[in-house]
Amino acid sequence: MTDYIIAIDQGTTSTRAIVFDHSGSIVSQGQLEHEQIFPKAGWVEHNPKEIWDNTREVIGQALSKANITRHNVKAVGITNQRETTVVWDKNTGEPVYNAIVWQDTRTQEIVDRFAADGGVERFKDIVGLPLSTYFAGTKIVWILENVEGAREKAENGDLLFGTTDSWVTWNLTGGVDGGVHITDVTNASRTMFMDLETLEWRDDILEVFNVPKSMLPEIKSSSAVYGTVHTSSLLREVPVAGILGDQQAATFGQAAFDAGEAKNTYGTGNFLIFNTGTEIVKSKNGLLTTLGYKLGDDAPHYALEGSIAVTGSLIQWLRDNLGLIKSAPEVEDLAKTVDDNGGAYFVPAFSGLFAPYWRSDARGALVGLTRYVNKGHIARAALEATAFQTKEVLDAVNADSGVPLTELKVDGGMIGNNLLMQFQADILDVPVVRPVVAETTALGAAYAAGLAVGFWANLDELRANWQEDSRWTPEMDDAERDRLYRNWKKAVTKTFDWVD
Ligand code: G3P
Repeated sequence: MTDYIIAIDQGTTSTRAIVFDHSGSIVSQGQLEHEQIFPKAGWVEHNPKEIWDNTREVIGQALSKANITRHNVKAVGITNQRETTVVWDKNTGEPVYNAIVWQDTRTQEIVDRFAADGGVERFKDIVGLPLSTYFAGTKIVWILENVEGAREKAENGDLLFGTTDSWVTWNLTGGVDGGVHITDVTNASRTMFMDLETLEWRDDILEVFNVPKSMLPEIKSSSAVYGTVHTSSLLREVPVAGILGDQQAATFGQAAFDAGEAKNTYGTGNFLIFNTGTEIVKSKNGLLTTLGYKLGDDAPHYALEGSIAVTGSLIQWLRDNLGLIKSAPEVEDLAKTVDDNGGAYFVPAFSGLFAPYWRSDARGALVGLTRYVNKGHIARAALEATAFQTKEVLDAVNADSGVPLTELKVDGGMIGNNLLMQFQADILDVPVVRPVVAETTALGAAYAAGLAVGFWANLDELRANWQEDSRWTPEMDDAERDRLYRNWKKAVTKTFDWVD
């Protein structure tokens, strides 16, 4: 009987279950999208119940497509959209509010309130993050302050908080019937509450935020047997043995285990993660300090992260809000109808600007327009925005580390876009490299779970699974690169000060 590992990837737009074999190849997968709820400008929510229903469903899809049962599955690994905040009643299993998604900017007033004493970098030395609407902390505060009865229930110890890894794990391991309430160090490092050195919740910061500690999950390593799947599930009794936030999971799936290794994921947003080994490096250039992974009782690995809020979701916006294309991949054909951006630059500051600016007052801008500009140019400007934003964070990584990256490993949905990948290599002036298994997020979670149960022996075995599929090498001349990037920087300045 062949054995497998199953990974659940609870992402921003969909939930997937992927079955992997020992070589790290995909055997089968199930996938379901969930509704994106936009109640007001700047607000983004998901229904946690829909996410949990979809999780169960995609597990069934993946098992039946692979024609296997739980007996063939050695462990479950979980990876997730980070920061997205669920608060639920531990007695009923009912969420008290929709999940507030990482892109949501409603907590600006709460950020300003806490920043009034000490600025946005007030806790950065301890937690690695600036105060921002992006992270889970202010989202919990919003729920406690705005959902009727939530504060009282939380004080009574009846409410639990979790990012979607916690929500899925709690339900998978039994929910009200003994579910484990945990998260891993990588997800905990996105709340504002975890001390990077001790890997424990900080009582003093919780006090400032007025968040009861009883709501918080227990912080675990990224690879360990946390519990087993409840008897009500198709995967009953399979160990749940790995949790990694999706960007850290992709880094792990890219086998970027050591200091100096990095990856860039092109998803709803883009996230460049640079492994700094067991050293906590504090950024001087607008990057986050975050956890990379922690295996069992081993020392944790840290990372610098350049987070970009809007990249792939700009293409979805062209499709859903403007109707410019019918499907996301069509953007490449449309962009190819023109030779260049025609002078147009699109800065998609829909959730403010994340790294390296951290400007929540920014809003999107499309600039450089003349009557010459057509929809091909706009498609091209939208794709180029992803590459320019990536250059900004790579420059910050290079400045912080002092050792410029000589190539960039990439993964995620947008890397199927050849025009973008070539432009990316051109703008960065370093080669861009894609692995054979581009589903690195799910693969990383599978690796973490598989290591914990001995399905894989060690990191060397995983490194040997990584294979190059394609490579884009820079072709643009320096003067053209400089001109385009100079214009991009000018365009960025047009997005500031839009919120009054
Ligand atoms: O920090 C947000 C990130 O984890 C979301 O990733 O791939 O679901 O857009 P993704």
